Amino acid sequence: MQLSQNHFGLFSAMHPLQCVLQVYRSLRWGPLASVSWLQLRTCRAHSSLTSTACPGPERQQGGVQKDFSSRLAAGPTFQHFLRSASAPQENLCPLEAEDPPPYITVDELLGRQRKVYFETYGCQMNVNDTEIAWSILQKSGYLRTSNLQEADVILLVTCSIREKAEQTIWNRLHQLKALKTRRLRSRVPLRIGILGCMAERLKEEILNREKMVDLLAGPDAYRDLPRLLTVAESGQQAANVLLSLDETYADVMPVQTCPSATSAFVSIMRGCDNMCSYCIVPFTRGRERSRPVASILAEVRKLSEQGLKEVTLLGQNVNSFRDNSEVQFNNAVSTNLSRGFTTNYKTKQGGLRFAHLLDQVSRVDPEMRIRFTSPHPKDFPDEVLQLIHERDNICKQIHLPAQSGSSRVLEAMRRGYSREAYVELIHHIRESIPGVSLSSDFIAGFCGETEEDHLQTVSLLREVQYNIGFLFAYSMRQKTRAYHRLKDDVPEEVKLRRLEELINVFREEATKANKTSVGCTQLVLVEGLSKRSATDLCGRNDGNLKVIFPDAEMEDATNPGLRIRAQPGDYVLVKITSASSQTLKGHAFCRTTLKDASAYC
Ligand code: 5AD
Ligand code: SF4
Repeated sequence: MQLSQNHFGLFSAMHPLQCVLQVYRSLRWGPLASVSWLQLRTCRAHSSLTSTACPGPERQQGGVQKDFSSRLAAGPTFQHFLRSASAPQENLCPLEAEDPPPYITVDELLGRQRKVYFETYGCQMNVNDTEIAWSILQKSGYLRTSNLQEADVILLVTCSIREKAEQTIWNRLHQLKALKTRRLRSRVPLRIGILGCMAERLKEEILNREKMVDLLAGPDAYRDLPRLLTVAESGQQAANVLLSLDETYADVMPVQTCPSATSAFVSIMRGCDNMCSYCIVPFTRGRERSRPVASILAEVRKLSEQGLKEVTLLGQNVNSFRDNSEVQFNNAVSTNLSRGFTTNYKTKQGGLRFAHLLDQVSRVDPEMRIRFTSPHPKDFPDEVLQLIHERDNICKQIHLPAQSGSSRVLEAMRRGYSREAYVELIHHIRESIPGVSLSSDFIAGFCGETEEDHLQTVSLLREVQYNIGFLFAYSMRQKTRAYHRLKDDVPEEVKLRRLEELINVFREEATKANKTSVGCTQLVLVEGLSKRSATDLCGRNDGNLKVIFPDAEMEDATNPGLRIRAQPGDYVLVKITSASSQTLKGHAFCRTTLKDASAYC
């Protein structure tokens, strides 16, 4: 099944054949006049769209290229679409076995050592997507470079969550234009691609606005990158922005960008079904789908074997995780939501839930810390809270995005809870997990937000006293419910003033909360040298706060009598001496293990 968006920006499921017909129709009569070729891949229910632009002089190179261009222009017939559409769905293809489309040979799909330069914007999900995209291109014979000047391909992994995020990309494209023009006159032409949410949101608008962009790949189209790059290499613009109902890249092992890192992110689910009224994510990343538990465990085991000490489970709604890939005996069991919370979608049933996954992941390696982000407050049943409390290596840290402290605004945001239900959940979490560290997201100046609503948010910040906070000014996004139904009526300067007030209050309260750690001993996972001082080390405590301490000799609890200097990946005990809203400082006195430390801290 395919996912398509209708004129109201809502998702609807489509049979692949329907999709072929729709695409074929737009090919002949639709608004996409420049579209010259379309292909449907039944493998993983993807379809892709390739559009052409006028080939420039640099785009007419060599016999092979010419031959490929003419094959591409001729393209497959409508009969071909129909044949592809009726191919069996269960024929999921591993990366290596992917058949090239009929107009590209296997050789043409290869990177032939061309160098790719990635630039990643936005959230952690995009960092993980970059690793997935790179893993796919590496297997196709591309090389990676961190030097922009020597790149043959530049890929920007983009974010659309706020207007400002997109503006950054447009500005960057203008800078890259100069580089591309210079390269026109020199050796191999430079290709530029837009990946991720902005490609998905703006689609051909990017190709029309910035002729220098050669390819677009939405968040579910990274498997198609070798083909898209091959098409782009021939001088055509290439795009695949179709969303999928089942793509989780479960079989693609992300390639860690930093080989010396102590921690890694593991994507466990993609997309979001919540449809909060301000949010573009359900439109750019599509429907919620979870990766099979077995493939997540395999990835975590591999990371543990590589010596990594921390894994963060990643997803738009991690705790809504539901692996339906295997039939479960308890398939009829319905979902337990947090008390006082509702969903915007029909209740889902069955499958392996987040508590099961968290339990399994935390058993892989007792010396590996487990975190997860970003959850939704509605999906915190007691078994998840109990597990976090009981298991030593699951960090006592919960991100609980509130977005607003006003029940009226929460309703307009379609968050599915009131301020009272949220506060009750906070109390319940604090009772269930003593000492838990809490963080949150807030939006200032949402549609219709009054001064009174704003003060309610200020009071929530004071009441909860979060340790970590992410605060944003509201940015209206097209396609969202708020865009269609509400008025962006809080003036920009008011939004910014309210945001500043929230930031100040958050900082005051976080400083107070963090100061309660002064005098305590905390377990810190060492990350490396502090960025500010070569004589200090930096690491994170269980609550994910940064801890800075002098790089000095200390005892080694696992080898009594031995004195050592802490290395990245070591657990050390740190006596906290001072705290600010964002950092703790202290003195490390002992290297230890996570298991031994749990008896101590
Ligand atoms: N404007 C401002 N902030 C937003 N967020 C999501 N959409 C918007 C928007 N349109 C914030 C929310 C979310 C975080 C990832 O980004 O706080 O939790
Ligand atoms: Fe956006 Fe709401 Fe989904 Fe988070 S839960 S990604 S804010 S729609």
